[in-house]
Amino acid sequence: AYNERESFYIVLNFAAEYFKDLLHNNPQGKSIGLSYFKERAFSNATIDKFDLGFSLDEWDGLIKAATKAGHSEDLLEKAGLIIKKEDKTYDRFRNRVIFPIHSISGKPIAFGARILVNDKKQPKYINSPETDVYHKSEVLYGIAQAKKSIRDEENCYLVEGYTDVISLHQSGVENVVASSGTSLTTQQIKLIGRYAQNVTVLFDGDAAGLKAAMRGIDLILEGGLNVKVVIFPDGEDPDSYSRKMGDEEFKRFLADNSKDFIRFKSDLLLEETKKDPIKKAETIQDIVRSISRIPDPVKRAIYIKECSDILEIDEELLIAEQNKIILREK
Ligand code: UTP
Ligand code: MN
Ligand code: MN
Ligand code: MN
Ligand code: MN
Repeated sequence: AYNERESFYIVLNFAAEYFKDLLHNNPQGKSIGLSYFKERAFSNATIDKFDLGFSLDEWDGLIKAATKAGHSEDLLEKAGLIIKKEDKTYDRFRNRVIFPIHSISGKPIAFGARILVNDKKQPKYINSPETDVYHKSEVLYGIAQAKKSIRDEENCYLVEGYTDVISLHQSGVENVVASSGTSLTTQQIKLIGRYAQNVTVLFDGDAAGLKAAMRGIDLILEGGLNVKVVIFPDGEDPDSYSRKMGDEEFKRFLADNSKDFIRFKSDLLLEETKKDPIKKAETIQDIVRSISRIPDPVKRAIYIKECSDILEIDEELLIAEQNKIILREK
């Protein structure tokens, strides 16, 4: 007999195969789902690599197929695949393209599902809920496909979305994961830290992306990892921009535009606050606060020196400021 965890993996794998089969073999799946991915310029190899799928415009497509194959409705519900209300039971994912979310070892443990045509009345993505085998805060989308490359490159690109991960792979950048649907967590940073000590944050070029990047930087520093940032032009994300630029140009863009967090913060904040001494003081405070989160005192000293050089502020003063912050937060 299988234990309960094992039965979750089996039913989730069944669902992943079911969605994949629909994308490739069902008339609706082919004409709507596959052509959606083609329009986004995903190649067949990419579609296969990420096990992309399609869910029918029906209330019980998966329920029927899975129960016929011997899986109980109870298990389907616990695995997050169907929704049970008092009076009705129905598939969670309907008429959407499907992005399976894999465990580190590559087992499907959850799904993200995108609407085919943007529509303000429905969420763009629907995701699996928390289950016994899917803890959002511990999972990174793409880790199974990326882990080897993260180790080889000694760097992990961190993006916001499923399609950013996928497009970067197709452009030849395979050391990339997304936090997907949740804001970045300490556990996710620990997970990256198993493979590399360097993270490059590639968040969307919009206000939300910038805010998430700011928060992400501090969490990554606290986790003891080194962090760089690439800012995208307004309205672009890594997916849209990589397609606009072409593979080689995009890789050059990443290399040329990766800034360490101090330069990123000082450029950004000082741009808004040129020649305003009060704003400059706030910027310095902000940067020193980030530096004070770094656990390693030697690294802190190096960054304080850099900060002093960039902002032309006496190093001793910055150290005093840092020590105040560290004491206050203890
Ligand atoms: P974005 O809105 O940036 O979407 O959300 P995207 O990834 O660029 O998707 P496309 O290109 O329009 O298809 C970033 C990520 O946030 C989560 C998803 O994981 C998405 O990839 N998200 C977004 C949701 O979970 N639900 C939503 O309704 C929207
Ligand atoms: Mn658990
Ligand atoms: Mn966005
Ligand atoms: Mn985006
Ligand atoms: Mn996008």
